Parts: sequence; structure tokens; C-alpha cells
Amino acid sequence: MAKRLANSVAIIGCGPGNISCMTLGAIKRIQDAGVIVGSRRLLNLFPEVRAEKFVIGKNYRALLSKIEKLSVRKKVVVLVSGDPGFFSYARLVVTRLGKENCDIIPGISSIQLAFASIRSHWGDAHFVSLHGRKSELENLVEAVKTHNKVAVLNDTSVSPRIVCHALQKGGVKGKRVYLCENLSLENENIKEYDLASLGEAHSDSMNVMIFVSEGCS
Ligand SMILES: C[S@@+](CC[C@H](N)C(=O)[O-])C[C@H]1O[C@@H](n2cnc3c(N)ncnc32)[C@H](O)[C@@H]1O
Repeated sequence: MAKRLANSVAIIGCGPGNISCMTLGAIKRIQDAGVIVGSRRLLNLFPEVRAEKFVIGKNYRALLSKIEKLSVRKKVVVLVSGDPGFFSYARLVVTRLGKENCDIIPGISSIQLAFASIRSHWGDAHFVSLHGRKSELENLVEAVKTHNKVAVLNDTSVSPRIVCHALQKGGVKGKRVYLCENLSLENENIKEYDLASLGEAHSDSMNVMIFVSEGCS
């Protein structure tokens, strides 16, 4: 069991990036914080909060010990996008600090919003993350072959053209693709493709892709 910290650290799901998607409980916890740790994009949602702020970037591992030390004196919150339980920094924080020292405040996942935007249910979906893991592309091909509905987290490093090429090379056929960029933000863009036309899609934004077998809803 980890040593009990003076203040538990709150890991807060900020949803896809528009403050209107956050819960009131999450916002209250941020307003009460002494220290806020998060990506620049998420920190910028709270310019009025006068806490000490730390930007997460490539320093994410070094920040873990900073979070631990600061929590002795201050209320620390860690902002993550979407829901903390779904492919997020929360896992590293909880592993480092111990479950008993963390509160997890849920948020709307980008996946939830993507499915809501295309008016589809997601209880039967399979999930893959290419975010920071280009090597998952092979698993994506297998997943799209074997599941009727696959949702993919993607950053800007794997273009739709590369995904399309990998799927076609893997012999995948008969899928509709929804490319959902910048969900909830001003430049939100959601478009539907077939596999061939996905190769012509341009995307330089964070996105969720949803692959659905033809004939499935
Ligand atoms: C590190 S993962 C975090 C996922 C997050 N925990 C969630 O539940 O959505 C980051 C990925 O989430 C997706 N994402 C986050 N915000 C998004 C948004 N506003 N629009 C589209 N995709 C988004 C992108 O696929 C991005 O590469």
C-alpha cells in the first residue's frame, strides 16, 4: 500500500475540450485547486483560476514526482482529456501515487461524443488507440476485419491516407468510416467516407475514427 498523502490528487476528465461538456463537480474541484497540471490546451480553459500551473508535455514522467511532492502542501488537480479511465495519463498517476491517494472525476470521452455525433450506439464497439502508438496499426487492421464497429483514437501522426492504405493492404472491404475531428470545438468537422475515399481525406487535427460494417447501424 502506498504512503498516504496529505491531500489526495484529483484526476479530472475534461471531456473533448469544450468547457460546456464538463461536469459542475469537476469545475468546482478545479476552482478549489492550489496546483493544476495539464496540457496547454486544457489549462487554457481556466485562465481565471489562480492556481500554480504546470504544462504536461514530454516532461510527463518527471511531473509525477512533482505532483507527489506538491500534494503534501497543496490541493493538486491533474487535467486529462475525455475520461480519465480511457487511454489517459491517469493510469500513470494512479500507479505512481496509489489508488488511495487519487480521486478520479469522470468526463465525457471523445469516443462517447463521436458516437453521439453520428447517432450510433457504442456498447458493441471495439476500441483501438493509435495515439502515440503507430505500431498499433497492424492491430487496427485485424480489429476492423473482425469487428462490426471499431472506434479509434488518433493523433496527427497517422494520417487517414496511411490508415486507408493499411486497411486496403490487409484486404478490408465493406466499411463506412466516420472521421470526427476537433469534437465539441469551434472547428469540429465530422465526415463520412467509404474506405477508398478515406485515402483522400486530409486531417491535421486530433480525431476519432469510427469504422462500421456496411449494413450495421
Ligand atoms: C491520450 S488520448 C485520450 C483519450 C481520452 N481519455 C478520451 O476519453 O477521449 C487523446 C486522443 O483523444 C482523442 N480526442 C481527444 N479530444 C478530442 C476531440 N476534441 N476531438 C477528437 N478527438 C479527440 C484523439 O484521438 C486524441 O488523439
